[in-house]
Amino acid sequence: MAKVAIMGYGTVGSGVYDIIEMNSRKLAKSAGEAVELKYILDIRDFDDHPRKDLFTKDVNDIINDNEISVVAEVMGGLHPAYEFTKKLLESGKSVVTSNKELVATYGSELLAIAEKNNVNYLFEASVGGGIPVLRPLSRCLSANNIIKIAGILNGTTNYILYQMIKNHKSFNTALADAQANGYAERNPAADIEGHDACRKIAILASLASGKEVDYSKISTEGITGITLDDVKCAEAAGAVIKLIGYAEFLTNGKVYAHVAPMMISNGNMLSGIDDVMNGIMVTGDAVGEVMFYGAGAGKLPTASAVVADMVDSVIHKSRRKIIGWEKTDEDIAASDDDMKFRYFMRAEKSIDEVTAVFGNVTELDSLAEDESAFITEPLTASDAAADREKLGSVKTAIRVLD
Ligand code: HSE
Repeated sequence: MAKVAIMGYGTVGSGVYDIIEMNSRKLAKSAGEAVELKYILDIRDFDDHPRKDLFTKDVNDIINDNEISVVAEVMGGLHPAYEFTKKLLESGKSVVTSNKELVATYGSELLAIAEKNNVNYLFEASVGGGIPVLRPLSRCLSANNIIKIAGILNGTTNYILYQMIKNHKSFNTALADAQANGYAERNPAADIEGHDACRKIAILASLASGKEVDYSKISTEGITGITLDDVKCAEAAGAVIKLIGYAEFLTNGKVYAHVAPMMISNGNMLSGIDDVMNGIMVTGDAVGEVMFYGAGAGKLPTASAVVADMVDSVIHKSRRKIIGWEKTDEDIAASDDDMKFRYFMRAEKSIDEVTAVFGNVTELDSLAEDESAFITEPLTASDAAADREKLGSVKTAIRVLD
């Protein structure tokens, strides 16, 4: 019998508990032995909980218990999750997590500690919630050089954009709904300003390249600047606007990444990822494009991935599962100007004034007489910024995902 613990009894932690209760026979079959929950760590009281006997406020109960072999860290945040995880790995316990902030920030160090102690540090739930994507990326696609990853990685922002477009809800009502459904981060600024998606694309890019991609160097823009007019104008042009985590792996070994709203034509599979769903498109040099789709946030979908990692850790108790990357001193971040994108723009200028600055553009239906909507030819970020400045009165500039 494998004895396990949960750290953090919030949305995901209670989902992990529910799955262990609900699917105990299936878990035993998958793990090859029964999986028994021995502790739940949380600073709050849960006096009415049917298993209140499992709750502890002292992490040392778990760290010092030699029977515990696997711990699910679903507390979120950096501290004390980092300190607790480190101690648990050092005491010979495998840790699995949904904590993308922790993995993106301290992943390299925690992976190295896990290796030294011959235990596992697994984090499938940290990207894409319940979607199996990290294991397939590092295992099933291991024969490929990964060329590109483009993903809708944040359920809350996708939910907000969808509710605004389809149900004409205001931004704030849609955000409140996302919070009520348990999709949003404790501080939803992490969702709407793109930081959550930034951590997730950093994890994906690190796994795909085998080297740590520093999330703090990834240019990150959220959805707060997107207006209903932008969305309507894109819609008239047969496209949608989605928050995209983007990474491209250059032949010189550098990795370009950004998080930003992007215009996606209706022919692209990512355009159909609606509601709280996530979709991750990976392009490999042998396989071509593959798409991962599913529930990217929420209690049971995220807990599904956490519990699967617990099972995997039980199966691999005496043998490490190698999934991760190395920290490197090399600066592998490509600059914005190593890349060119087409831009969707709206400006209070005539189309003649637009073409005088941007040259050849694709004109779109505009929403007002005194406005032009258009798509530029591919431009570097510096050229796009310089041309915007020169034209003046540009209300919107959104990269196009080709
Ligand atoms: N706040 C995150 C989201 C939760 O909305 O995608 C899942 O990581």
